[in-house]
Amino acid sequence: VPLQPHNSFGIVARAQQLVRIRSEDDIAEVLAREDWRETPKFVLGGGSNIVITGDVKPLVLKVEIPGRRVVEDTPRACIVEIGAGEPWHDTVRWTLEQGCPGLENMAMIPGTVGGAPVQNIGAYGVELQDRFESLDGIDLETGRRFTLDAAQCAFGYRDSVFKHPPGSGPNDFGLAGRAVITRVRLRLPRPWKPELGYLDLARKAAESGIAEPTPMQVFDWVCAIRQAKLPDWRVLGNAGSFFKNPTVTPEQCADIIAREPRIVHYPMPDGSVKLAAGWLIDACGWKGKSVGNAGVYEKQALVLVNRGGRSHPATGGEVMTLAKAIQTSVYERFGIRLEPEPVVV
Ligand code: EPU
Repeated sequence: VPLQPHNSFGIVARAQQLVRIRSEDDIAEVLAREDWRETPKFVLGGGSNIVITGDVKPLVLKVEIPGRRVVEDTPRACIVEIGAGEPWHDTVRWTLEQGCPGLENMAMIPGTVGGAPVQNIGAYGVELQDRFESLDGIDLETGRRFTLDAAQCAFGYRDSVFKHPPGSGPNDFGLAGRAVITRVRLRLPRPWKPELGYLDLARKAAESGIAEPTPMQVFDWVCAIRQAKLPDWRVLGNAGSFFKNPTVTPEQCADIIAREPRIVHYPMPDGSVKLAAGWLIDACGWKGKSVGNAGVYEKQALVLVNRGGRSHPATGGEVMTLAKAIQTSVYERFGIRLEPEPVVV
């Protein structure tokens, strides 16, 4: 089965077997099959946060579970339940149409609703964990259904239990490779108020002269900012930010500022300091550079892109070689180790 249509980088690779999952029962059927009992399984959503570096041997479960409904609507909150296979961006638009705002800052993030909790997606000052109620999933080892709340998901910055293998992770309860997320419930608090703290968004609001924007207005601003800065993966393959923004201690930060006064940094509530990885990579001169057909996007150095299109796409190897070269030069210049953000398959 060709995987190129199933990853936003447009990397060419094959899976030995791929099963489309449209319901919980489809998973039960897979687990009931004797010949697949011991076969390792790989759960695939929208494929917008992965780098495939070779053919995929595990059985690929492509999650396409549909469904969207408002399950609770009170003066305090609106709770919606969404099938894991629904596209995230369409879901954001749908919640606005239902009169349930609160996701608009996360407009235009590629991928599916089931993928959103895995890496605790976030943008412009709002993260999934800020709007999360609970999720349903199925344990691939036991076949049991489970429900997790936010604490059990152990959300962190672009992190959750779903990114860590069993026996590891924030609470030793990693579920990577072990669980399929089937449904996600989101809590959208009322009364709604706009989150305009992030610099790009604050600037847009100021330029517009609109003092009290509607949720749809914020949605449109976020879409405009992203269109100006981030490549559309349908045109130029990519997986969003390729590295996490690193955090350092205030002492480390003071040390770096002494050498690099212009470094972009944000103080965090816990006293640490987050550095803009895009700035670090940019400062090392990587913008617009390439290794084979893998390149660094001209307008945002944190995004690696596939310059070869569908016909001569970058290989996963080229992407990883470029990523390693970037890590080495950022380490040599700033002493900071950048950590990849997408899942490397
Ligand atoms: N910058 C540069 N040069 C660059 C890129 C960035 O100097 O080439 C500077 C910018 O001027 C800015 C700062 O770095 O002052 C931060 O850049 P930006 O606002 O574009 O955000 P980011 O930190 O690079 C993060 C998320 C994005 C998210 C945006 C908006 C991570 C890894 N990335 O990017 O999320 O959309 O903030 O909230 O946290 C993703 O995770 O895939 C993703 C796209």
